[in-house]
Amino acid sequence: MRSLRSTLRSAAPLGRRWCSEAPSPREMQLLQQVSRLENRVHELQNALPPHVKPAKVENWEDLGFGIVPTNGHTRYTWSGVTNAWDAGRFISDPFVPLHIHAAVLHYGMTLFEGCKAFRCKDGRIRVCNLNENSARMNTGADRLVLPRVPVSMFNEAVDWAVRANAEYVPPYGSGGSLYIRPFLMGTGPILGLQPCPETTFMVSVTPVGNYFGKGGVQGIHASIMKDFDRAAPKGTGAVKAGGNYAADLLPLKQAKAAGFGTTLYLDCVEQKYVEEFSVSNFVGIDSKGAYVTPKTPSILPSITNKMMMQIAESKGIKVEARPLAWDEVSTFREVGACGTATVCVPIASITDGDAKHEFGKFEVLKELRDELQAIQYGECEDPYGWMREVVV
Ligand SMILES: Cc1ncc(COP(=O)(O)O)c(C=O)c1O
Repeated sequence: MRSLRSTLRSAAPLGRRWCSEAPSPREMQLLQQVSRLENRVHELQNALPPHVKPAKVENWEDLGFGIVPTNGHTRYTWSGVTNAWDAGRFISDPFVPLHIHAAVLHYGMTLFEGCKAFRCKDGRIRVCNLNENSARMNTGADRLVLPRVPVSMFNEAVDWAVRANAEYVPPYGSGGSLYIRPFLMGTGPILGLQPCPETTFMVSVTPVGNYFGKGGVQGIHASIMKDFDRAAPKGTGAVKAGGNYAADLLPLKQAKAAGFGTTLYLDCVEQKYVEEFSVSNFVGIDSKGAYVTPKTPSILPSITNKMMMQIAESKGIKVEARPLAWDEVSTFREVGACGTATVCVPIASITDGDAKHEFGKFEVLKELRDELQAIQYGECEDPYGWMREVVV
């Protein structure tokens, strides 16, 4: 390496003259030497183990919601020239080389999904309701003018990533699961705002425990954010666009500094109706025992919420997906935050300025959550056909 550096040092001043004068034979010789050395460095880098070594998980019960280095991810590329996706690759290196003008870096052209694989009671690995994630990603792709990912390719990419990381699916009984993160991003270079000439679809995985840590089970304290809006009625709130989450960071930072675990947003027009929590849907059991969840065009349609609604209906519980006035929430018996990562955690209180509303119970929502988890871990029948085995 010392010789490469000294060669580069001696070649550097030559570069400045490159445009005005033809290189001398000596300069040509030096440049060829640099080029040969660069190739050799590249060869050696390729022979090295990945930058980040896969982790060895010792204690599955201690997993939180963080990144554990795994064996790798799947990656597919769409080209505007062929208007087609390639056959995909499995890549162990978690770094992605990007053009400095990649659309995702400047214009936030990116969407992601979150789903899970479970080690079931019978020892097999199953993924939950992937067709819904695939459909939601494609709704988002249309909104951000990115190419759609065919459902067969979505499933292939997920199965490949899960199979190649099967040892990272937490054992049955540990309470963990393999979090799957499919994502789509505009990787082609653009300067003016326009659809991207190249898109990349990737699926990475990481073993997880509870999103809110062990305290999540006790109940989360939420704060209403009146100084911020999450999404406009005709904006991108209903799709999983990366920018929605960047915009939530400042309110979340303020809420956490004030001692809260999460943020709750109201509608941005009247600040009267409940929208959703930072990264999960609002669900509640009202004073009459009905399952109530807000319905507006700016909320992300949660797949977990949809499954909980189906389970509630099957138990004869009235389900109401409708505009929900914030004033009504103080009369609720139970409130929860639901999503793939959290499943459904109790909301212990919601603070609105000086007023704090507490919700002491979490019985009906717990029953629904337990039934959903029993289906996910293969402890009971799956009458809805949500689970699909990934054969390892
Ligand atoms: C803003 C927002 N709402 C709701 C959810 C829950 O959606 P799902 O149940 O599909 O994970 C998520 C999580 O992905 C989210 O980010």
